[in-house]
Amino acid sequence: MEVGVSSRLTPHVLSTTQFIDRSLLDHLFERTAAFKQVKAWQQTKPLSGKVVATIFYEPSTRTRLSFESAVLTLGGQIISTESAGHFSSAAKGETLEDTIRVVSAYADAIVLRHPDVGAAERAAAVSNVPIINAGDGLGEHPSQALLDLFTIHELKARLDGLTIALVGDLRYGRTVHSLSTLLSQYDVAVYGVAPPQIPMPDKYKTPRYKPADTLNAVLPECDVIYMTRIQKERFESVADYDAVKDFFVLDNTVMKQAKRDAIILHPLPRVNELAPEVDADPRAKYFEQAANGKYVRMALLEWVLTPGLGDASG
Ligand code: NCD
Repeated sequence: MEVGVSSRLTPHVLSTTQFIDRSLLDHLFERTAAFKQVKAWQQTKPLSGKVVATIFYEPSTRTRLSFESAVLTLGGQIISTESAGHFSSAAKGETLEDTIRVVSAYADAIVLRHPDVGAAERAAAVSNVPIINAGDGLGEHPSQALLDLFTIHELKARLDGLTIALVGDLRYGRTVHSLSTLLSQYDVAVYGVAPPQIPMPDKYKTPRYKPADTLNAVLPECDVIYMTRIQKERFESVADYDAVKDFFVLDNTVMKQAKRDAIILHPLPRVNELAPEVDADPRAKYFEQAANGKYVRMALLEWVLTPGLGDASG
C-alpha cells in the first residue's frame, strides 16, 4: 500500500500507516477544527452530487452514523446496508469482492466494516471508488484513530511529551492498533496495560512502548488514559473471555491515582471497564471524543472525495 500523501493517487483509507505524515495529519486536523466551528447549515457542500455507500457487516452506532451525518452535512447522499451479513446478498453467498464491484458502480466512495482482517484491502483491490476502512476485524480502524488523535491534541494542546496508557484489549482491539501506529510518529511514552493473554501485537508497538500489568502503577504518570472494551466477539471461548473481562476497571476510586489534568478517553461502547460514575469526573472526555468523530470524518471525506479542495499538497 502506498503511504502518506502519495496515497492521493489511490485515495483509499485502509490503515493509519497511510497517515505517517505529519503534514497530512496537520491538514486533516485543521479542516476538522474548521468544520467543528461552523454550524451544519452553514457548511459548504463539497460532497454535493456525491453518493457514499456505508456497508457494515458488524454492529456500529458511532462510526456508521457519524460517517452518514458527515456525508449529509457536506451535501452528499447516503446508500446503506447495516447488518450486511444478513441484509445484503452476502446472506445468499455473494463474496465481498462481488458486492464491492457492484456497489462501486452506485457510489462515489464506500465505507466498509467487516469482521475479517484485510477485508478493506480486498475491497480496494476490486473497487472503482475509494474504500474507507471502518474496521476490519481485529485489524485496524483508521478513522477512529484519527478522531482519537485529534481529541488528544485538542484537549492537551500537544502530542510530543505526553504519557499515554492504552488499557484493556490490546490484542483484539483495532482502535488501539490504529492509534498506536499514529502515535509512533510522536515523542510519546506509551504504557500498554493489558491482561497477559491479550497483549499488544509487536507490529503495533510504538518506539517507547512499555507493557504494564497494573493500572495503579502507571496512572500517576499518565496524561491520557485510553480505555477499551474487551472484545468478547473475538475470543475463541466464553471461558477465555470471562478470564479477562474484568481485569481493569476504571472507577472513581482508581481515578484518585490519576493526574488532576489527565483525560480519560474510550472509543465506546463501554461494558464494565469504565464505571458510569466516572462520567461526572471533569477528566472524562469520551463523549466529546465521540462527538469529534463527525468532524474528523467530514475532513476525511473531503480529502478523499474532493482532490484539490481537500488536498494537503494542493
Ligand atoms: C470500536 C470498534 O468498533 O472497534 N467502536 C467504535 O467504532 N467506536 C470499539 C469497540 O467495539 O470496542
